[in-house]
Amino acid sequence: AALRETLKQMPKAELHMHIEGSLEPELIFALAERNQVKLNYASVEELRRAYAFTDLQSFLDIYYAGASVLLKEQDFYDMTWAYLQHAREDNVKHAEIFFDPQTHTDRGVPFGTAINGIHRALKDARAEWGMSSAIIMCFLRHLSEEAALETLEQSMPYRDKIIGVGLDSSERGHPPEKFARVFARCKELGLRLVAHAGEEGPPEYIRTALDLLKVERIDHGVRCLEDPALTQRLARDKVPLTVCPLSNIKLRVFDKVGDHNLVKLLDAGLTVTVNSDDPAYFGGYVNENFVQMFDALPLDKNHAYRLARNSFAASFLDAQAKQKFL
Ligand code: ADE
Ligand code: ZN
Repeated sequence: AALRETLKQMPKAELHMHIEGSLEPELIFALAERNQVKLNYASVEELRRAYAFTDLQSFLDIYYAGASVLLKEQDFYDMTWAYLQHAREDNVKHAEIFFDPQTHTDRGVPFGTAINGIHRALKDARAEWGMSSAIIMCFLRHLSEEAALETLEQSMPYRDKIIGVGLDSSERGHPPEKFARVFARCKELGLRLVAHAGEEGPPEYIRTALDLLKVERIDHGVRCLEDPALTQRLARDKVPLTVCPLSNIKLRVFDKVGDHNLVKLLDAGLTVTVNSDDPAYFGGYVNENFVQMFDALPLDKNHAYRLARNSFAASFLDAQAKQKFL
């Protein structure tokens, strides 16, 4: 019980969450009504019952459908504000938030509508609670590199609101090298670089994300342990892995909480962090991820502090802001 309190109360940073994945079914229905968007589900309960995923793609299909209710800047604000309240409850002091511009621009929602709504909520959380935050724009890897380059172009008027770029959506069959040119361009622009790799895809995608995209963090990366040389390299170079335990269970990367390789990753000397990924879909916000893993696995207070410390060390906070938390 004391350990649970430590997990909940320790200051932490969240580095891997998709803001569209924080849309709770109740808010999806409220926004659908507000915007007169038709959903293929009759009720909140029916939608929630559809959250029985078999793999990443089965989740993504529902996640993109859920995002279809987001039309106006205020919708993006309300979604982000709801997430920030949960983050505050979980004592998140700093959040780096992914958003998927193409999910919105491909439906005719302007880039600025999405980012301005998200950014205004982050600004209010900073003013009201002193919570710090940053926005990472993700390219959808099932779409073309040309589409990613076009999205980068659209983001330029909002350059000051974006700390970095990531790569998400369907991993298998869409290797990092598909996006080598757009990531090189982002690096030239001074954007920080991350990518989802080794979630469902093979360890090789982690290596190519590092070598060809030059990413600074790996999102998920849990399959690295299949490749000992790669694991050693990640440990030696202190490449952070933003691990999302409940996501991995819900998307069947591991069968059950007790099968998760979090302890093995830590024992391999990796800079692991714990995150919620898509909290409205996977059964909990960041503290729920901590509590369920610590209940099921041989993890103690020292692991808790190490994970919290890693979350700030791996963040894109500047050295001075980081120092406050380390
Ligand atoms: N988009 C939202 N969540 C994701 C995940 N876990 N993997 C890939 N793309 C995503
Ligand atoms: Zn993710």
